[in-house]
Amino acid sequence: MAKGDNIVRLVHMGKTFHTDSGDVKALDDINLDIKEGSIQGIIGLSGAGKSTLVRCINYLEVPTSGQVLFEGQSLGDMTDAEVREARKKMGMIFQQFNLLDQRNLLKNVTFPLEISGISGKIAKDRAMELLRLVGLEDRVKNYPAQLSGGQKQRVAIARALATNPKVLLCDEATSALDPKTTAQILDLLKKINKELGVTVIVITHQMSVIEAICDSVAIIDHSHIAESGPVSEIFANPKTDIGRKLILGNGDINETPITFGDSTKKKIRIVFDGLSAYKPVISEMTLACKVPVNILFANTREVEGKAVGQMVVELPDDHTEADQITGYLRDNEITFEEVR
Ligand SMILES: Nc1ncnc2c1ncn2[C@@H]1O[C@H](COP(=O)(O)OP(=O)(O)OP(=O)(O)O)[C@@H](O)[C@H]1O
Ligand SMILES: [Mg+2]
Repeated sequence: MAKGDNIVRLVHMGKTFHTDSGDVKALDDINLDIKEGSIQGIIGLSGAGKSTLVRCINYLEVPTSGQVLFEGQSLGDMTDAEVREARKKMGMIFQQFNLLDQRNLLKNVTFPLEISGISGKIAKDRAMELLRLVGLEDRVKNYPAQLSGGQKQRVAIARALATNPKVLLCDEATSALDPKTTAQILDLLKKINKELGVTVIVITHQMSVIEAICDSVAIIDHSHIAESGPVSEIFANPKTDIGRKLILGNGDINETPITFGDSTKKKIRIVFDGLSAYKPVISEMTLACKVPVNILFANTREVEGKAVGQMVVELPDDHTEADQITGYLRDNEITFEEVR
């Protein structure tokens, strides 16, 4: 399998849980191709089905419909032993680290090797190599209780890499960490992706995590994939309500209540869709029109040098002046709409 091939494919995959209080459809008709060597993000609100999805990828949960292909082979067609072999090629880390408290760091990392029948010096050397990779070579005799959250997650990453997996599944791996530690762990995941060529699948509810390291993103909402594609495209032009909500924050295009500003004045919402080059649109507009505008709300960010987001401005009372502004925006092909 070469870089760029699909290492994981989800084909019409669904998962329904049968519970005493009825069926819960956690996933429905999920189609997603994940490229070898990429960092794939999966984002959604709580309960959307993210953890179920990631557990279906390595068959910790068996889907109730459709297929999971790993390196072109359907997990559903494999024997239990073959599924276990495939699972070894998919390391996993979690929000709560799930370390073995009774074992020191070295023994935490050798644990999956012992299960695979590798012990002694080979296992120890491999564990040491990985603990060096994650920057904990001087703590190998420590126990998990002696570590910070970020350090615990480093051990979990080392342990997940012990069996030389091709894929690393990360379920909210940074959700229990502060922003600075989050950034360090994300850097480590990026390094593992670049240096070891491991495909990384990142489950998160934070857009900032996707923005920081992912190449592609799938937005999952109420058991479905709402939209998916390269991060730059999805961020620049989210097409679904949930996409806009996650990317633009609370400033959902259709929902932002404009309860501030003068209620008698006309307002427009300017949408930065990433197509308008990253330049100070507002200052150029006021210079060109020689008319000041009042910015009421702004939620913009820069994605790959392009402006993405929205801004609400109050137009001048004077009709001619207001027309000048809207004319400028139209001439410069900047998307806007009137806000009631
Ligand atoms: N073992 C189970 N039995 C029954 N229902 C389940 C089970 N696991 C998950 N579900 C349900 O499936 C849906 C999706 O859950 P899941 O844990 O995948 O969501 P999530 O997106 O990971 O949420 P969060 O961000 O809170 O972790 C939820 O409605 C949940 O209650
Ligand atoms: Mg979850």
